[in-house]
Amino acid sequence: MFETLEQAPPDPILGLTTAFNADPNPNKINLGVGVYKDDDGNTPVFKSVKTAEERILQVEDTKNYLTIDGDPGYGAAVQQLLFGADHEILLSERTVTVQTPGGTGALRVAGDFISKLFPDATLWLSDPTWANHPKVFDAAGVPIKTYPYYDSEANVLDFGALIEALNQVPEGDVVLLHGCCHNPTGMDPTPEQWEEIADVVQSRKFIPLVDFAYQGLGDGLDADGKGLHTLAATGCEMFVANSFSKNFGLYCERIGALTLVTSDKDAAAVAKSHVLIMIRTNYSNPPAHGSSIVATVLNDLELRAGWDAEVKEMRDRINGVRRKLVDALKTKGVKRDFSFIARQRGMFSFSGLTPEQVDKLREEYSIYVVKTGGRINVAGIRDENIDYLCDSIATVLNA
Ligand code: LMR
Repeated sequence: MFETLEQAPPDPILGLTTAFNADPNPNKINLGVGVYKDDDGNTPVFKSVKTAEERILQVEDTKNYLTIDGDPGYGAAVQQLLFGADHEILLSERTVTVQTPGGTGALRVAGDFISKLFPDATLWLSDPTWANHPKVFDAAGVPIKTYPYYDSEANVLDFGALIEALNQVPEGDVVLLHGCCHNPTGMDPTPEQWEEIADVVQSRKFIPLVDFAYQGLGDGLDADGKGLHTLAATGCEMFVANSFSKNFGLYCERIGALTLVTSDKDAAAVAKSHVLIMIRTNYSNPPAHGSSIVATVLNDLELRAGWDAEVKEMRDRINGVRRKLVDALKTKGVKRDFSFIARQRGMFSFSGLTPEQVDKLREEYSIYVVKTGGRINVAGIRDENIDYLCDSIATVLNA
């Protein structure tokens, strides 16, 4: 069996980490995978997380299975974080949240749900989008189409084209929207543009699937929910896939959630009965450690305040690095206008470097960047490496 196989390609994002780890160059910089680094180059465990873990260790008395949908205290905390504790969606109990292994797990459960129960529905992805989006939904058997999103000449959202395309989406299809910190472009709709998107959702009657993996890393935990809240205000049904990899730094704990917003309490119960089957036939039930941490932090006023401050610190550093990068590129004599980097939000910048320039950066300078759009993880840039990075970019651009 196995001798007949041909080598499969490496993952365009995680494959870079493997190549980076094997690179002996002491000046190497990994700006590939979306992992936060502080200015010392570390990805530390949050203080709020450590305290929560100490508490969990004291009180934990079993490693019994969680239920298929996960820890109910966690699910409730997720809903409150997404919508606010007294949102009509929560009070009317027309929403269901299941715990999933990361945001990717949530997307896959949503993909299985759509493909098995709504086989005629097409999923619409932004062009460009996270490299793994089409693969996850393709693996689940969901037909995929794309809608335009970004004007890479002007480095702005191509909002006119986006709205025009969404206005053609048939009723009952699913449209994936990035809740904030669009991956890979870092360019989000404005609050007014979200209102327009919500109007189209209402008139076309498609179902939004909000991928909300970066809450808190753009403009604030609440501010980043603007798009989600605007959609929710229309009363539409939707899916929300969220992740605590980035905003809790819980990458390896694989903790996220899938939330289904339905029309009423009965529909929510029925939808949940199907989601449980998708999970049981995939990974059976979720791991417990990540959800215990998140629930412990979110349900404790002091830990919650500490976590808010830690998220703010990350956000402020990322936005500061954006400004430093723009300035440093200018100082190095780069002619191209990179000021758009400071207007993008979240971990990523769609730098506009060509695939050839990305290859050159990697081969000659050991700088690892995702090929599509030259996506740079801004959070991997530090005071210590920004000079080397900008010198290398300047040389590559001028070559
Ligand atoms: C990324 O886009 O780098 C992150 O979402 C990590 C991943 O799994 O690809």
